[in-house]
Amino acid sequence: MNRKNYIIRNENKNDYFAVENLTRESFWNLSFPGCNEHYFIHVMRDHKDFIPELAFVMEVDGEIIANIMYLKSKLIDENGNEKETISFGPVCVHPKYQRMGYGKILIEHSFEKAKEMGFDTVIIFGNPDNYVARGFKSCIRFNVCLDGGYFPAPLLVKELKENQFDGRRWFYHESDASAPCADEEAVENFDKNFPPKEKGWQPSQEEFFIHSHSGLNA
Ligand SMILES: CC(C)(COP(=O)(O)OP(=O)(O)OC[C@H]1O[C@@H](n2cnc3c(N)ncnc32)[C@H](O)[C@@H]1OP(=O)(O)O)[C@@H](O)C(=O)NCCC(=O)NCCS
Repeated sequence: MNRKNYIIRNENKNDYFAVENLTRESFWNLSFPGCNEHYFIHVMRDHKDFIPELAFVMEVDGEIIANIMYLKSKLIDENGNEKETISFGPVCVHPKYQRMGYGKILIEHSFEKAKEMGFDTVIIFGNPDNYVARGFKSCIRFNVCLDGGYFPAPLLVKELKENQFDGRRWFYHESDASAPCADEEAVENFDKNFPPKEKGWQPSQEEFFIHSHSGLNA
């Protein structure tokens, strides 16, 4: 593997456009024709759940090639007790640099920083192929579900510190920071700030459909 020297640092204001463009390049046509992840991170930074200390960029030869961002999320048990968790996404590596280990290094760096900040559990919706090697396990192993007792296949849990779970049922509540992405017109308008790109179909969209409609039996 021909990995180049890299640096990882916190994102700052001067990086915003480059990071949004990187996100757009990485997610374009991945889950549906076009993408909205660049708009998501644009609005996320002003949301109360955003954790700026865990927004990292990775640079190679002075160019940002990867980034990761986190939001606060929570679990609520059947008695109304709450447990603070964190959730990353979008995370991306520029297509030119994918599958060379950069994503692994960046994600694991963010775990170390999150641990130092006192966080103990990361919960995400993601393609298990990308995350089981990072220590994520199915939500069902920790009795973490959505309202209604549904265990989505892509809902994944990673303990940053061991033994966070005692078998009780927890309901996952993600941040509402992505809510503005439902406004397709706002996404389209925001997208005009970037170079034109053609929307189209690719097989990963079917993969996304399958994962996002899959649940596990308790
Ligand atoms: C997903 C993504 C962040 C991973 O970063 P990356 O630098 O490409 O991945 P890495 O080379 O570090 O590999 C990470 C893990 O992915 C998995 N992986 C690697 N190549 C893979 C492949 N061809 N197919 C399936 N999984 C693969 C492995 O589990 C690997 O970990 P391991 O080497 O420790 O076993 C990156 O590919 C990306 O930005 N993809 C487009 C956007 C995206 O899908 N983001 C995540 C949304 S859920």
